[in-house]
Amino acid sequence: MTSNPATPPGPARHALVFGASGAIGAALVARLLDAGWSVDAVSRAPRADAARLRWHAGAFDAMPASLPDRADAIFSCGPLDRFSLWYAGAAIDCPRIVAFGSTSDATKQAARDPGERELAMRLRASGERVFAAANARGATATLLRPTLVYGSGRDRNLSLIVALARRSGVFVLPRDARGLRQPVHVDDLAAAAEAAFDAPGAQGQAFALPGGDTIDYRTMVARTLACLHPAPRLLAVPGVLFDAALWTAHRAGRLQGLPPGAVARMREDLVFDAAPAREAFGYAPRAFRPEPAMFAVD
Ligand SMILES: NC(=O)c1ccc[n+]([C@@H]2O[C@H](COP(=O)([O-])OP(=O)(O)OC[C@H]3O[C@@H](n4cnc5c(N)ncnc54)[C@H](OP(=O)(O)O)[C@@H]3O)[C@@H](O)[C@H]2O)c1
Repeated sequence: MTSNPATPPGPARHALVFGASGAIGAALVARLLDAGWSVDAVSRAPRADAARLRWHAGAFDAMPASLPDRADAIFSCGPLDRFSLWYAGAAIDCPRIVAFGSTSDATKQAARDPGERELAMRLRASGERVFAAANARGATATLLRPTLVYGSGRDRNLSLIVALARRSGVFVLPRDARGLRQPVHVDDLAAAAEAAFDAPGAQGQAFALPGGDTIDYRTMVARTLACLHPAPRLLAVPGVLFDAALWTAHRAGRLQGLPPGAVARMREDLVFDAAPAREAFGYAPRAFRPEPAMFAVD
């Protein structure tokens, strides 16, 4: 993915990045700085400035007065709901908004867990709010919806599985955890955000951003564990046995972080089409080739 070759090199661009300390945000800021942008970044914690990078400590309900009043682009890499509410009321002058949402807006729409259904609804409403607010001020927005993100070592998906498996040397999955997944690398998402900024065809659109491979859940976990040294063992047990053990654990107040709905989803295909993003801004995500450094938690 490259910038539009028809765009002549102009003055340095200026971005305002929310969620800049996060997995995707950090990859995006590094990329923007490499490409010559100057970046104003927001974090709830104070952070050290660097060349062309200025941090602002603040939260969406209390943004600091130091925030710039104009930018060439706003990138939202933090919670979409909070960003959308802030942006709808903000006076900032900026023609382009690129915001990360999630394919959970679709995959959790009919989830068993009311909290997950509420999340899906909130994500959809937040995306609509960003588009409406951009329209109202003559700006254009792009919504990027990643699938399962990996690569930074800080995600709560594969990195969490790796951490658990490293601790006990074994990871247990139901044998029928065969729902299809498309893990996507953070650097491909950062590249997508930069490319979408420049692409006329991305304006006013939402795009799913799946990874370059479509593999089943068990294969995804097996491939991840196999890259580690030493490699933890993946134990696949019959689905009914796994479900019964989980039910017993829940009754005892354990494994609350693994709700039945999350296990049910391991058996569901969560598959999205990369073609619209490829056509609009050359999205070309890498294949899933895990390496230990991608799961090294700081
Ligand atoms: N990780 C995934 O698998 C995945 C999948 C699909 C979509 N997404 C979406 O992609 C975006 C980025 O994901 P990510 O994995 O890079 O996230 P992340 O690592 O959790 O980072 C998000 C950043 O947002 C800021 N943030 C978090 N809560 C906040 C709050 N209440 N108010 C203000 N700022 C807050 C934090 O920065 P400070 O602590 O510095 O303030 C944090 O570093 C999110 O919209 C996420 O929903 C993620």
